Amino acid sequence: MEKIVSLCKRRGFIFQSSEIYGGLNGCWDYGPLGTELKRNLKDFWWRRTVRERDDVVGMDGSILMNRQVWVASGHENTFTDPMVDCRNCKSRLRADQLTEKNGRKQCPVCGSFDLTEPRAFNLMFKTYVGATEDESAVTYLRPETAQAIFVQFRNILEVSRKKLPFGIAQIGKAFRNEINPRNFTFRSREFEQMELEYFCRPENGLELLEYWLQERLRFYRDIGLPSESLHVHKIPPEECAHYSKGTYDIEFAFPFGIQELEGVAYRTDYDLTQHQLASGKPLDYFDEESKQHFIPHVVEPSAGVDRTMLALICAGYDEEVVTDEKGKSETRTVLRFHPRMAPIKCGVFPLLKNNESLVRRAREIVDQLRREMMVFYDETGAIGRRYRRQDEAGTPFGVTVDFDTIGENGPALRDTVTVRHRDSMEQERIAIKELPAFLSERIR
Ligand code: GAP
Repeated sequence: MEKIVSLCKRRGFIFQSSEIYGGLNGCWDYGPLGTELKRNLKDFWWRRTVRERDDVVGMDGSILMNRQVWVASGHENTFTDPMVDCRNCKSRLRADQLTEKNGRKQCPVCGSFDLTEPRAFNLMFKTYVGATEDESAVTYLRPETAQAIFVQFRNILEVSRKKLPFGIAQIGKAFRNEINPRNFTFRSREFEQMELEYFCRPENGLELLEYWLQERLRFYRDIGLPSESLHVHKIPPEECAHYSKGTYDIEFAFPFGIQELEGVAYRTDYDLTQHQLASGKPLDYFDEESKQHFIPHVVEPSAGVDRTMLALICAGYDEEVVTDEKGKSETRTVLRFHPRMAPIKCGVFPLLKNNESLVRRAREIVDQLRREMMVFYDETGAIGRRYRRQDEAGTPFGVTVDFDTIGENGPALRDTVTVRHRDSMEQERIAIKELPAFLSERIR
């Protein structure tokens, strides 16, 4: 993890939030490469979940909502983690994450056994809406995006004219005042979720739970997470939420252990029923065939953007020893991202920066490609160094404009370039006019 954290900072994937003031625990900023990676991940989720399907529509809800949403959903009373205080060093700790020594829970900071009894700590960030800071103005930063979907169910049903089964998808920020943020971005206080609420008839719930589990595993494989690093954990019935008729965790083998990436839960009709009861507004569905009204059930695949990004970086990270033509060996650090996730798709390099024809041709290629993908122009340093810099950024393709390109060695290779593949380091010659199609096909 240390190497990954250091690469993330050095190359501008992830920085500590407010770093120059000493940071803010549990909050992170994404730099230029991290932002592109995040965008690619969210765009691909949206494409798979919404655009490529007839039965899912999108929404984008507000982060602040009426407090009653959180009362009805149960978050105000029960969205808690058990917390203990260490009487010796005053650390606040999550009781369920403590290790035991000789049957006694121990403080991981100072080693003391002098801990308070666990008490429930609500994870929601409280705030006030408007100028008066009294109880009537209290609300919370949303701890999940899902509730906005439930409370807009009726509006979206009406405007989309969908029939069951259908889903509503959303990507957005969520906030949890985690007692112990840890493992880099894995457990943060501010993060993003990609959530789908897939509404269905009660009799189809269990079958759709299995369907969505498989769909979500396919998604993770398609963004480049190796199958062997993905694990499915079926939550035993006694550990499921009381309203759930089945929950799976999709887990990933991080360097710090196998941990949850996403929950796929069959939540029955719990959420819509709660909001119907609390708001007094009907949230049922009218089935035209049977002429019956009922509250739909829901299957929820709920994924974390930041955790998936961390998984992509961990899965992609590699170091290998390479030996050049002169017999000199060095370690090459490479992020083997799937091309569809890679922040930069293609590096473009003129062989020499002080040759006007090479530079002009390379610039023309950049202008041609950048309408369709993220490209990076680099003219400084030896070509080998430029390749290495892009290897570390995870760029799958490098295009080099050389003297053959500009026809200095005869007409045979004029208007062709070298395409270098990041993973194999193999090179091939391609006509410039074929370059956009060649690359587009591989990054889709
Ligand atoms: N609506 C259901 C829900 O929110 P969850 O299991 O609490 O379920 C879903 O959260 C996903 O959100 C998790 O699988 C994880 O990827 C992400 N997530 C939750 N808490 C997080 C945190 N503190 N930091 C980063 N990601 C988090």
